[in-house]
Amino acid sequence: MKNIVVLVSGGGTNLQALINAQNRGDIKNGRITCVVSSNPNAYALTRAADNGIDSVVIKRKDYDTLSDYDDALTKLLKSLNADLVVLAGFMTILGSKVIKAFENKIINIHPSLIPSFCGEGFYGLRVHEAALKKGVKLTGATAHFVNEVCDGGPIIIQKAVAVENGDTPEILQKRVMEQAEWKILPQAVALFCDDKITVKDNKTEILD
Ligand code: GAR
Repeated sequence: MKNIVVLVSGGGTNLQALINAQNRGDIKNGRITCVVSSNPNAYALTRAADNGIDSVVIKRKDYDTLSDYDDALTKLLKSLNADLVVLAGFMTILGSKVIKAFENKIINIHPSLIPSFCGEGFYGLRVHEAALKKGVKLTGATAHFVNEVCDGGPIIIQKAVAVENGDTPEILQKRVMEQAEWKILPQAVALFCDDKITVKDNKTEILD
């Protein structure tokens, strides 16, 4: 059974999707053991408490440098014996130590079809604003491993979602969450926990 630690910053709907998948028995070989939040007021913390999951708050602002924060987060995740770290709407940039310590063991959910609308500055609603500005007819979400290139790690699962007439960033965000993020993030986590993902040359292969 793998120990899953979920990192959050906000509403936590992706955390909820993981909890629901766990409760349905869709994540057979993993268990969410702790939620780590960068924001003490994140609603995701209430979701953790409501489901009897331990939580910890670690704020970037409490550390002078990225390196100090990186050390503290690495130490925390090691002390929690994390086998898998999931970034579920985690809005703080990770340092290189934690990324190296958990190579191909950190999964992020990004609200676009990478490599479109990703990288520095593309997070949350901004991603959907950019997609609407460009006028793409399809967008979606990507679950991927985290490496030192922002949103550049090996892609695990992607799912496309149609853009519709009259979409606002908020409407599109909700459709992308419902139709893509809340499905592919639990799927990627279950595959990882079943040891069904291999990584070679910055690409993944999913075993049957
Ligand atoms: C989600 O749409 C997630 O894909 C996005 O933030 C939202 C968090 O919502 N993440 C990023 O943009 C990361 N670059 P949630 O707190 O309700 O899961």
